[in-house]
Parts: sequence; C-alpha cells; structure tokens
Amino acid sequence: MADSLHFETRAIHAGQEPDPTTGAVTTPIYQTSTFAQEAVGVHKGYDYARVANPTRTALEECLASLESASFGHAFSSGLGATTTIMHLVDPGQRVVCVNDVYGGTYRLFSQVYEPKGYRFTYLTPAELSDPAAVAAHLGDDVALIWIETPTNPLLNIVDIRAVSDAAHRVGAKVVVDNTFATPYLQRPLELGADIVVHSTTKYIGGHSDVIGGFAATSDTEISARLRFLQKSLGAVPGPFDAWLVLRGVKTLAVRMRQHCANARAVVEFLSGHAAVERVLYPGLAEHPGHEIAARQMSDFGGMISLLATSEEEAVALVARTKVWTLAESLGGVESLIEHPFRMTHGATAQSEFAAPRNLVRLSVGIESADDLILDLEHALARS
Ligand SMILES: Cc1ncc(COP(=O)(O)O)c(C=O)c1O
Repeated sequence: MADSLHFETRAIHAGQEPDPTTGAVTTPIYQTSTFAQEAVGVHKGYDYARVANPTRTALEECLASLESASFGHAFSSGLGATTTIMHLVDPGQRVVCVNDVYGGTYRLFSQVYEPKGYRFTYLTPAELSDPAAVAAHLGDDVALIWIETPTNPLLNIVDIRAVSDAAHRVGAKVVVDNTFATPYLQRPLELGADIVVHSTTKYIGGHSDVIGGFAATSDTEISARLRFLQKSLGAVPGPFDAWLVLRGVKTLAVRMRQHCANARAVVEFLSGHAAVERVLYPGLAEHPGHEIAARQMSDFGGMISLLATSEEEAVALVARTKVWTLAESLGGVESLIEHPFRMTHGATAQSEFAAPRNLVRLSVGIESADDLILDLEHALARS
C-alpha cells in the first residue's frame, strides 16, 4: 500500500487487498493451524500458524504502515510484546526505564527480569527529556531505553527525540510504548525511536473485546530477531484475535478524534471543580510536558487523570459513576474510570514511584460528552 496515502486510508486498506481466491473484501479469518505443502518445503508462504498466518500478516502490515515502520510484529498481548522485546537484552545488561510506567510492565521488569540478573535504572520523565541528565545515566552496558509517553497513569511526557539522540550516542536502542497516543497522534519512529510497542487491547482494538500486542521497527536486524522470537517464544495472536484488532483499527482515526474532543470537554469541566485537587492532562498549558507534547503529538489523547481530595474520595468517586464504568483497561469506545493505586498499578504500590493514593484515571470514550460530564457532575456533587 502506497505510503503516500493518508492515515485513514491506510488504516482501512494497508495489508488488506481483497482475498485473492474469493474476492472477499474483508480479510478472512484464516482459522487454521497448518498449511498444505505441494512438496517438502514448497508452499504458498505459510507452513505453520505460529510462524505466520495470513490474517496476522494483514494486521502486521497495516499497523506497520500506520507507525511509518518497515516491519510489524503482532503478539498475543501487550506484555507478550514486551516480553519478546526483552529477549533482545542479555542478563547483566541494563535497561533505562521511565519511572512512571504501566504497573504490569514494572512487575515484569522488577519481579521477572531483575531476579534473573537484568539491571534497571528508573529515571523521571523530566530527566529523560533532558539530554545531559539522561546521558549521565547511560553507558556501554545499556541495551535499551524503555519509555512510555504519555505515561500511565500520570500522563507525563517524555521527549522522544531527546531520548533517542542520547541513546544512539552510546549504541542503545529506544523502545516507545505508544499505547496511550496511538500512531494517529504520535509516531515515535519518525522521532528517532528504534521500536514502537503497543497494547492493541486498548485504542487500536478500540472495543474492549480483545487482548493483543504489537511491535514495529524499521531496523532490519531487530525485525529479523523479533520474527525469530515470535516463532521461538510463541506469544502470537490467534487468527480471530488478529482479525478483531484489524477490524478495530479501521476506525482508529475517527475514534481518536472523538476521544480527544470529549477529553477536552471533560478536562474543561473538571478544571477548577471544588472536589478536584488537580487535573493531569498534557493538553493543559500548565502541564509540565505540554510544550513537548504539542511538538511530538498532533493532539493530546483521550486519557485524563485527576487528584481527588483524598484516597477515600477517589475510591468512592470511581464507584459512583453510572455512564463511566469502573474497570481496568482503557482506550475502548466506552468510558472507564479506575483507581490506579489499587487496580492497574497495584504492582508499583510498594515501590518508590507508587501512583498517588488519591489518583483517579479516566479513559474518555466516544459517548456524548454531555452525558459523560453530567455523570461526573453527579458523582462529584456527592464528594
Ligand atoms: C501502556 C500500557 N502498555 C502495556 C500494557 C500491557 O498490555 P496488555 O494488557 O495487552 O498485555 C498496558 C495494559 O494496560 C498498558 O496500559
């Protein structure tokens, strides 16, 4: 699919020519584990579905195109993608990671990889965005710099270009978890990153009906290794899951536009509300990462965090809303609300960078913004 086509067009067509045998317009779910061979090793490009499956190939080509990447790799979950990427690192090597990272990523790093001899240095988003500060923590032993931007759950911003420039000076690779922004709002590879990773469970799938992961790169060696690791580790999606993500991504652009517009309206309502201590949203001029976000993102996304007046208020608030569903996860068409300290970020609760106890995270859906605001108004009025 020609790279000159617009994002919206590639989301619908990249990797998705009509089916060559039947003309089916929608990529079929190739629900098969194996493929017939005419003679030993003579086949149509597919031999065993852990290695590759045509539905998965369509998804990988489509998402790679959206991330401006040469190669795409689909996984069974976001953490499946993270685990596979971590196999690019050897025990004894160091990973520099942003200290405000998804709780499950932190659990994987601190409770699975650290005990095996992998080393981690956690830096603040501000340190990572300052070339001198980040350079002070880099050395030959650093294999990867792992960042999220915006971060989960505090919506901090890391300067992707600054990190990438510093990393490349010492030969380290930069991985950007682009789950919150999506390629519609931010394309890390265009800013110098080496690998972009997603939980496609979130905005890319978009309908809270599938768990999936994805990694993209334009580095031929990294891609070859990831392809080998997909086959060798086996954390790949089945054809139906790949198809659900592929169906979801077709509407990514229109959904993201609505997520962003609704988020702006909700932020406006929450800002200055007596029961809200602070609103964390990179679109706010006073947000410490606002300028960087305005530079590297085309809009500020659908995720908002707020600080309630106390932990008790935060816990009570998330249980009071009616349109906003109290649930983990994010990025679906429906609005979700949660308490990170006790829910999504329980794994960091005992660490030095635990989520604030009075933090509430909002995933703004694409319902009517008026309904979302009215629901919050009622819930906050009881604070
Ligand atoms: C930013 C981020 N990265 C990665 C993950 C992990 O993805 P998955 O749940 O698909 O394994 C999540 C899950 O919430 C996430 O929010």
